[in-house]
Amino acid sequence: MHTFARSADLRACVSAWRRAGARIGFVPTMGNLHAGHYSLIELAHQHVDKVVASVFVNPTQFGPTEDFASYPRTLDADRAGLAAQDCDALFAPAVDEMYPFGVAHAVRVEVPGVGDILDGAARPGHFAGVATVVAKLFNLVQPDVAVFGQKDYQQLLVIRRMTQDLRLPIEIVVAPICREANGLAMSSRNQYLTPDERERAGVIHQVLCVMRDEVHAGRARAEIETAAHATLVAAGSIPDYATIRRAADLGVPDAGDRHGLIALIATRLGRARLIDNLLLDD
Ligand code: PAJ
Repeated sequence: MHTFARSADLRACVSAWRRAGARIGFVPTMGNLHAGHYSLIELAHQHVDKVVASVFVNPTQFGPTEDFASYPRTLDADRAGLAAQDCDALFAPAVDEMYPFGVAHAVRVEVPGVGDILDGAARPGHFAGVATVVAKLFNLVQPDVAVFGQKDYQQLLVIRRMTQDLRLPIEIVVAPICREANGLAMSSRNQYLTPDERERAGVIHQVLCVMRDEVHAGRARAEIETAAHATLVAAGSIPDYATIRRAADLGVPDAGDRHGLIALIATRLGRARLIDNLLLDD
């Protein structure tokens, strides 16, 4: 596996592959890779000839009080794990390679609407940071296919909208959520949890399943959301939201809507802010 820190080197490698007729897949990450990330690499291999992964802890998607400084950085282990997945190239740039004019003066990509609600409201500027860095990475790699996890569902919709609106010829492929044995969605931020919190965090997936069952049973949305909130609080977490939305655009569904829905939760447990979701039609 090639490892590149400079975009010019990455571009030269990908151009040579493309001239040889290869289709290119791309999996952007912030590193500290786990089985969820590796499942994205595996899925990418099913769609393309060459897979590029990036590891970059992107400063512009963290708020001023968030965990940019303490976010786990484990590049050597990530490189070994990616090589074991037969990843073809790793791009691991420094901040000034991605933001040559400085973070404060960077060109920004905003995705109004779907980028402003839920996590966009709880974390102002977060999705502009995500869309900006993914637009830059897409432009560097110019992949045919890019793979994103359903785990970050709103991020997926933001990236889809950005890709369509910027007319980028990139197919966005979605990977299912990888979970721990107790249902907790795998996440680099799970290591902020104590063993006891990690066990209790299984409640998030349980609540999502209850929300799904109650929607299917015809219970009113507001009641379902109130009960979900209460269960998350009783388990010792502080919810930002526990909500049922339209899967297509995360808008609030009409009372009669029973299909095309998704349940989403964001809740704080100990030092971690955890997010998860469940598509209700599956
Ligand atoms: P990161 O949190 O490292 O996640 C990278 C990719 O892995 C995302 O597409 C995410 O949805 C996926 N992923 C994470 N946990 C997963 C799980 N348990 N199951 C399946 N997929 C999972 O998301 C980011 O980084 C950044 O915002 C990024 C897109 C790289 C831009 O900086």
